Amino acid sequence: MKNTKVTLAGVELKNPVMTASGTFGSGAEYSEFYDLSALGAVVTKGVANVPWPGNPTPRIAETASGMLNAIGLQNPGIDVFVQRDIPYLRKFDTKIVVNVCGKTVEDYCRVVERLAPEPVDLMEINVSCPNVKEGGIAFGQDPHALEEITKEVKKHAKQPIIMKLSPNVTDIAEMARAAEAGGADALSLINTLTGMKIDIYKKSFALANRTGGLSGPAIKPVAVRMVYQTAQAVKLPVIGMGGICTAEDALEFILAGATAVSVGTANFADPYAAKDVAEGIERYMDQQGVEDIRELIGAVR
Ligand SMILES: Cc1cc2nc3c(=O)[nH]c(=O)nc-3n(C[C@H](O)[C@H](O)[C@H](O)COP(=O)(O)O)c2cc1C
Repeated sequence: MKNTKVTLAGVELKNPVMTASGTFGSGAEYSEFYDLSALGAVVTKGVANVPWPGNPTPRIAETASGMLNAIGLQNPGIDVFVQRDIPYLRKFDTKIVVNVCGKTVEDYCRVVERLAPEPVDLMEINVSCPNVKEGGIAFGQDPHALEEITKEVKKHAKQPIIMKLSPNVTDIAEMARAAEAGGADALSLINTLTGMKIDIYKKSFALANRTGGLSGPAIKPVAVRMVYQTAQAVKLPVIGMGGICTAEDALEFILAGATAVSVGTANFADPYAAKDVAEGIERYMDQQGVEDIRELIGAVR
């Protein structure tokens, strides 16, 4: 019997495939297509201590092999989330990772505290959204601020904490080490790369926010490189994402050092993408005679 289980900060996932925050709703939409128990974990969209309206539209634009978004972390707030989304997800045999956003350190800590008694397995702290003016990215681009916010969040958290890193930095290894020094239990990367698109006929920005976050296959080589550098720099488990559409894509991240992977933008084009990635990894293991997925993690050095 081959083993596809991986352990993230003490939490066992039946397979290494997760969904990327903001691309899978609260899971309910996708459960119309398949049983979410097929996934190692579901990662929710970002939730804040109070509801956020998000950015003005247009908020999405297509690009070559990817997309730009500037949703601005629209969310119903933690109260609605706790009452509606957590009980729904608990019906499935999968782990629940809640993605947390905020504008100040206190905002993040309030959400983490509120989630402490809830049946949530892990929390992912988004300090890397390029689309909100205050907070968020400010923590993700300064190693000292990142270490400090990680320390504060850890003081209030009951569940293990994943710090989600921004690719919009010069030295990803320095950021990874700062999160590790702050006490993070795991790291996830990459969030979107800041981009811009111009509508040449309207002679204006394609997005109302002017800039947006680039995601999808276009960013995969950057993401694989950053996951590799991060896995080399720290002892923490790494969750890799950025342009994963197929099992082959996911395996690149695993071989580069990711313990788990997240499928994001691909869910929009194909709602079965994450499930297919999980099944494809098993097929690859059978074909290659791999008994245990852990043999593959970081096997390329
Ligand atoms: C429409 C959209 C919304 C997103 N919302 C969030 C979010 O709320 N929190 C977060 O940490 N990342 C968010 N992300 C980033 C993704 O989780 C992921 O890190 C990124 O898109 C790269 O993966 P991908 O290329 O597979 O989409 C969002 C991405 C997209 C495209």
